[in-house]
Amino acid sequence: MKIIDLSPGQPDLIEQAARQLVDGFRQHWPNAWPDMESARQEVHEALEAGKIARAALDDEGRLLGWVGAMPEYDGQAWELHPLVVDPAFQGQGIGQALVADLENQVKTCGGATIFLGTDDEDDMTSLSGVDLYPNVWEHIARIRNLKGHPYEFYQKQGYAIVGVIPDANGAGKPDIIMSKRVG
Ligand SMILES: CC(C)(COP(=O)(O)OP(=O)(O)OC[C@H]1O[C@@H](n2cnc3c(N)ncnc32)[C@H](O)[C@@H]1OP(=O)(O)O)[C@@H](O)C(=O)NCCC(=O)NCCS
Repeated sequence: MKIIDLSPGQPDLIEQAARQLVDGFRQHWPNAWPDMESARQEVHEALEAGKIARAALDDEGRLLGWVGAMPEYDGQAWELHPLVVDPAFQGQGIGQALVADLENQVKTCGGATIFLGTDDEDDMTSLSGVDLYPNVWEHIARIRNLKGHPYEFYQKQGYAIVGVIPDANGAGKPDIIMSKRVG
C-alpha cells in the first residue's frame, strides 16, 4: 500500500473516492452522501487549494480509502473530514495508516491539532437516544459503544472526546467532537 496526494487530475480515483463515500456511510449515515452526485461534490470540495486530501492505493493503483482535512483557526487546528475505507478492506489497518499520514501532513503545514466530529445518528453509542442535558459530561464520561461507532477507532489513534453537540442531527442524535495534539 502507498499513500499519495489525491488531486483534481485523477478522475478515476475521484470516482472511486465518491463511490466509497456512498458505500462506506450508507449503513449508519444514510443521509451523509445518499448518491454519487453529492459524493462527487464532496470529493471536489476536499481537493480545493489549501486543503489536504490523501489516498491509500494498493499495488495495482486501486483506491483503498482516503482522508481529507481543512485548516481552521488560522491553520492551528485542522478539521479531519471525511475519512473512509472501502468496506471490502476495513479492519486491515488502512484507516490507521491514513490518519497517521494525515497527522504528518498537518504537522508539516504547521498545524498543532486535528479535530473532527463523528455523528451518532443510528443509536450506535450510549450518547444516542437520550437527553444529554444538563449533565452532558456525565454522559460523555460513561460513553459505551453499542454498534461499532468509529469514536473508538479514533480513541485508538490517540484522539480524545472533547465535547458533544447534542441533537446535532435531530433529537437524541449527537455529534461527538474529538481532537488530538499533533504539533
Ligand atoms: C472507521 C474506519 C475509517 C476505520 O478504518 P479501518 O481501516 O477499518 O480501521 P483499522 O483497521 O485501521 O483499525 C484500527 C483499529 O481501530 C479499530 N476499529 C476500527 N473501526 C472501529 C470501529 N468502528 N469501532 C471500534 N473500533 C474500530 C480496529 O479494530 C483496530 O483496532 P486495533 O488497533 O486494536 O487492532 C472505517 O471502518 C470506515 O471507513 N468506516 C465507515 C466510514 C466511517 O465511519 N468514517 C469515519 C466517520 S467520522
